[in-house]
Amino acid sequence: AVLILLGPPGAGKGTQARMLEDSFGLVQLSTGDLLRAAVAAGTEAGKAAKSVMESGGLVSDEIVIAILRDRLGEPDCAKGVILDGFPRTAVQAEALDALLSETGQKINAAISLEVDDDAMVTRVAGRYTCGGCGEGYHDTFKQPKVAGTCDKCGGTEMKRRADDNAETVASRLAAYHEQTAPLIAYYDGKGVLQKIDAMGQIDAVAEGLAKIVKTAA
Ligand code: AP5
Ligand code: ZN
Repeated sequence: AVLILLGPPGAGKGTQARMLEDSFGLVQLSTGDLLRAAVAAGTEAGKAAKSVMESGGLVSDEIVIAILRDRLGEPDCAKGVILDGFPRTAVQAEALDALLSETGQKINAAISLEVDDDAMVTRVAGRYTCGGCGEGYHDTFKQPKVAGTCDKCGGTEMKRRADDNAETVASRLAAYHEQTAPLIAYYDGKGVLQKIDAMGQIDAVAEGLAKIVKTAA
């Protein structure tokens, strides 16, 4: 199965993708995570992406498509993927169609997480993740059972993202509305669009998403 999660920064794409990974045995494929790994590793792509990501703009289609293509070709992705943060432009959406037609796969659903922009600043500003396993947390909305200790792996090294500040969130929201939101109509035209209200609590959104995935995948 191929599922796409669409939505602005902070909508909960990463949070929900990891939950779907656990419950449906799918692989989460986040271009944001792949790019952050490239930045940390200091690859050519990472060097080019770093300043763009810090300013909240979109990394070039060329770099993102190359990174996605490599990851999608790895054997574990054959069991099905949840695309989190890709595609983000019309060019990326067309590149994805071309890649999938090569492998004979099709998009089961493109799910738009519908949220208010205003709430996204709070979600993004309070976010932190476990350095050990990548589990996501929030200062207010999702705290680990024991403060500072990851529920999943017991790790105690928590990290905050360089681009999670109020100024950058505004640029990221603008990039979303200009370049990514038009994909909602693109996937509607293909008959695979689903919308979900993502303003509710994490578990409520997860329940709604699980229903969509069960019928679509
Ligand atoms: P990326 O890593 O994709 O970031 P993003 O789209 O800005 O999305 P986020 O990771 O911020 O949000 P999310 O929706 O995953 O929310 P989360 O679940 O963490 O991209 C980063 C950068 O990389 C981009 O700006 C760009 O430069 C570049 N990039 C990446 N892909 C690209 C592409 N395809 N093309 C070009 N450039 C690309 O949730 C947020 C917080 O809220 C968490 O703390 C969570 O615990 C909490 N939360 C989640 N759901 C709820 C809820 N229902 N209620 C309350 N709190 C909640
Ligand atoms: Zn962890």
